[in-house]
Amino acid sequence: MCGIVGYVGAQSALDVVVAGLKRLEYRGYDSAGVAVLADGGLAAAKKAGKLINLEKELKDRPLPTGSTGIGHTRWATHGGPTDTNAHPHLDNAGRVAVVHNGIIENFAALRAELEERGHELSSETDTEVVAHLLAEEFSSCADLAEAMRLVCRRLEGAFTLVATHADQPDVVVGARRNSPLVVGVGEGEAFLASDVAAFIAHTRSAVELGQDQVVELRRDRVTVTGFDGSPAEVRAYHVDWDASAAEKGGYDYFMLKEIAEQPKAVADTLLGRIDAGGSLTLDEVRIDDSELREIDKVVIVACGTAFHAGMIAKYAIEHWTRLPCEVELASEFRYRDPILGGQSLVIAISQSGETMDTLMALRHAREQGSRVLAICNTNGSTIPRESDAVLYTHAGPEVAVASTKAFLTQLVACYLVALYLGQVRGTKWGDEIRAVIRDLSGISAAVDRVLETMEPVRALARSLADKDTVLFLGRHVGYPVALEGALKLKELAYMHAEGFAAGELKHGPIALIEEDLPVVVLVPSPRGRSVLHDKIVSNIQEIRARGARTIVIAEEGDEAVAPYADHLVRIPATPTLLQPLVATVPLQVFACELATARGNEVDQPRNLAKSVTVE
Ligand code: M6R
Repeated sequence: MCGIVGYVGAQSALDVVVAGLKRLEYRGYDSAGVAVLADGGLAAAKKAGKLINLEKELKDRPLPTGSTGIGHTRWATHGGPTDTNAHPHLDNAGRVAVVHNGIIENFAALRAELEERGHELSSETDTEVVAHLLAEEFSSCADLAEAMRLVCRRLEGAFTLVATHADQPDVVVGARRNSPLVVGVGEGEAFLASDVAAFIAHTRSAVELGQDQVVELRRDRVTVTGFDGSPAEVRAYHVDWDASAAEKGGYDYFMLKEIAEQPKAVADTLLGRIDAGGSLTLDEVRIDDSELREIDKVVIVACGTAFHAGMIAKYAIEHWTRLPCEVELASEFRYRDPILGGQSLVIAISQSGETMDTLMALRHAREQGSRVLAICNTNGSTIPRESDAVLYTHAGPEVAVASTKAFLTQLVACYLVALYLGQVRGTKWGDEIRAVIRDLSGISAAVDRVLETMEPVRALARSLADKDTVLFLGRHVGYPVALEGALKLKELAYMHAEGFAAGELKHGPIALIEEDLPVVVLVPSPRGRSVLHDKIVSNIQEIRARGARTIVIAEEGDEAVAPYADHLVRIPATPTLLQPLVATVPLQVFACELATARGNEVDQPRNLAKSVTVE
């Protein structure tokens, strides 16, 4: 969850590292710190609070200039967000500095051992033990990479570590286990970071690090080994987006930019996946068609917004393939001993590709002999690397903590997988597939149209800024959309927001309805299964009769709902199964505007981090 940057080269390490941390601040923002090697020593600064506090500190008390450095932006696990607990952590002699993402589970035992040997530890973190252990190992081997390997072999848990030592001034060393770390390779310089966004302004050449590997960075070479010292294969790749993609580009918030990018993101996810004859070609699905024909059930695992995408995918998969499909929160999955086997296809959905709960769920599935297909937005991340196959969503970098374009593109990818399964298993005719593909191809323009008509939604959001609660209702695929609308509002506006299946209303939640309570209702297309539409129209009447202020999201031309809508938000007509692609957009805009009106931090909501790399 924390953001890490390391640099060795000819530029000012401080400038490179702080600029990198700005790009990674979405990963954690309760404290930040840097260390640079200069004048034969090591200088560090760290501050609780956002990166801006550290920048102010660096202005007031500048560090010496050096060309090797590391930095960190924190999401606290062990120890509160204080100056002392902020990273980097140093050994007692102040010669080694280390930053860390993850949790070192055996830190208490290691700390007791160090204290017995006379080390004085000042923070409450699990990280500080690593600085002391590195210093001890370095004193006998005088090689930071070797010291890191020796220390990593003693650590339990998940970690990315990046360290530097005053006695090896042109070296930065990193290590990873179950936590992200990528290498950037430039001309006479090299970078380490939790995410390529940190160094994309300098280089688009990246190197993936595998599990349990240590990397030594020098200006002219990058050396990767296993924790046991064995040489590792270096897997290089080119980052297919540039620095401008990770900038706000004139928008006040990344979230606004990412909402606006959705038409393109949706189109990019479809790009190159439909052949001239209108059939699907999913090259990255490396599971043999013969195996896909043998699949007897699909299980989707994911968290948060990605889980909502999975819930919607279930409707499409079951409808188009007639395969049973389960959707499960990744954090619950492996703990209930799920029934899996060689004929189960597990789909792991994750924007970041680093969510620990999802990673653990997919590992569990593979242990049971199931095939795993990842739907992911982040090239080279752990989840696709550990899966049998991957379908990238091509949404471009998503920086705002609240997921928007990733969600829409996850949906598109899920529809593609469902259609592909229908194609190879013969449950869908070619012309049926082509018809859905045509509908999907029109979604980009439809989302554009939704975005053009959002001013009344923004005005409505502003008018509700002093409300405490908003409810969301939906049926069928509208139900997960209701959950997603509520999640957006919780995380951004810090309001009590609940999503319900509209049919469940009478089984309890209707007791929540009171005078002027805003209730957002997602209305299915009247052209689809009209029974769904009619039922929700009744639900709207029921809540309105009890005083609710109804905010109705319905497709253009649906006049049946108009008499019962206090506020009517129109969305373009789409087939029922695809409606979430357009219906979610007003909810994103609504939450973003409400958060702004309430004075909240839109891109970095309190207590959250973009990728959740601890369980
Ligand atoms: O990177 P992932 O897609 O695996 O992340 C999953 C969730 O943590 C994420 O969707 C989270 O719920 C978002 N902040 C919601 O906006």
